[in-house]
Amino acid sequence: MDRTLTVALHGATGRMGGNQHLIRSLLAIIQQGGVPLASGDTLQVEPILVAREEEKLRQLALEVAPQQIGRAVEFSTDLEAVIADNRVDIVFDAASTQVRPRVIRAAVEHGKAIYCEKPVAVELAEAIQLAELCETAGVKNGVVQDKLWLPGICQLRKLRDEGFFGEILGVRGDFGYWVFSGHDPQRPAQRPSWNYRAEDGGGMIIDMFCHWQYLLNDLLGPIAAVLTHAKVDVPQRIDEAGNAYQCTADDAAYAIFEMESGVTCQFNSSWSTRVRRDDLLTIQMDGTQGSAVAGLRDCWVQDLASTPTPVWNPDVPQPINFCEAWRKLPAPPVEENAFKTQWELFLKHVAGEGDFPWSIRAGAAGVALAQAGLLSAQERRWVSPSELLT
Ligand SMILES: NC(=O)c1ccc[n+]([C@@H]2O[C@H](COP(=O)([O-])OP(=O)(O)OC[C@H]3O[C@@H](n4cnc5c(N)ncnc54)[C@H](O)[C@@H]3O)[C@@H](O)[C@H]2O)c1
Repeated sequence: MDRTLTVALHGATGRMGGNQHLIRSLLAIIQQGGVPLASGDTLQVEPILVAREEEKLRQLALEVAPQQIGRAVEFSTDLEAVIADNRVDIVFDAASTQVRPRVIRAAVEHGKAIYCEKPVAVELAEAIQLAELCETAGVKNGVVQDKLWLPGICQLRKLRDEGFFGEILGVRGDFGYWVFSGHDPQRPAQRPSWNYRAEDGGGMIIDMFCHWQYLLNDLLGPIAAVLTHAKVDVPQRIDEAGNAYQCTADDAAYAIFEMESGVTCQFNSSWSTRVRRDDLLTIQMDGTQGSAVAGLRDCWVQDLASTPTPVWNPDVPQPINFCEAWRKLPAPPVEENAFKTQWELFLKHVAGEGDFPWSIRAGAAGVALAQAGLLSAQERRWVSPSELLT
């Protein structure tokens, strides 16, 4: 038997709402015929697209959706009415961060299940309030933590579980790429302008530290303290309307995370760097028995036996090809989109099958790390996220 969950997809016209959540997740789930449940039933999903831009919505609902699933989907510019609609089971928010608390509050008022993009809020007190609100109301809730299901990260987790690393000593994360400032009309900015304005909820730390929090927590346990240096590397950019604006939010952040286990993790996050590594995010984990480097999809390993013995001698050309000493692991047989995988887990959870630990409360822990990072950069000192949670 089929059961259908109706999802109000707010922010459907945005980068994340449109590409990752509508096209690659919800429409892909419809396209595959729904989500099979353990009960033998099939869970279907029906999106209602919501945003302010009517023309863009119309195009997504009446042109993009039919191309993928052979029929149109509903759309509306009236968020309040859609949230209040009795047919809606789940309110999902992928609008820009500052809008999120208002959407979550309205959804709680109507007793809807809530799923949203990260960060759940910019301010920690607000994120905690939202978690409490959902818990008190007893509504099912979750936050996107997509990186947990990236194929490369799944391989890293598997290596850890198999004991490949021996004792884990350190982790190095390298994230980012060059984001064009927009001054050259031939090379427009690839990211929305609000990302570079602190007053609009933008900034590398608030954007990315939530990801680093759940990733590191999942791989190595809790983060004890963070030391961050933040920069505004590109002080002026051009916005969507072609106007110059001042960048008030950090676009590069250099952080050291000290884990409760004693492991040291160092993450560089930058929108002002050029890529000369295997992927846009690479995470290297070093252990006594071996090391691994995970990209978004692939993972390379080097065990103790294949570890080269370099000799420092700048007077001769480097005799070792260091890349050749790494072995690429075979890709897993099925590589699903990470957002879609988490969507399926949330839909099942709402249908009564399976836990969903990636809650708004879990999302608030990401905001705590981001706020700890910001405070550390501001006061130039180590900050413990738990210091902010008490
Ligand atoms: N999980 C991830 O990897 C990931 C990656 C990028 C962004 N994000 C998060 O997704 C969210 C959206 O980011 P994006 O890059 O798609 O942004 P975007 O600018 O492309 O889209 C923003 C969306 O919000 C809507 N919006 C903006 N202001 C609004 C307002 N005042 N009222 C109602 N709607 C409003 C816009 O209409 C649009 O639909 C952010 O919270 C961001 O942190 C997550």
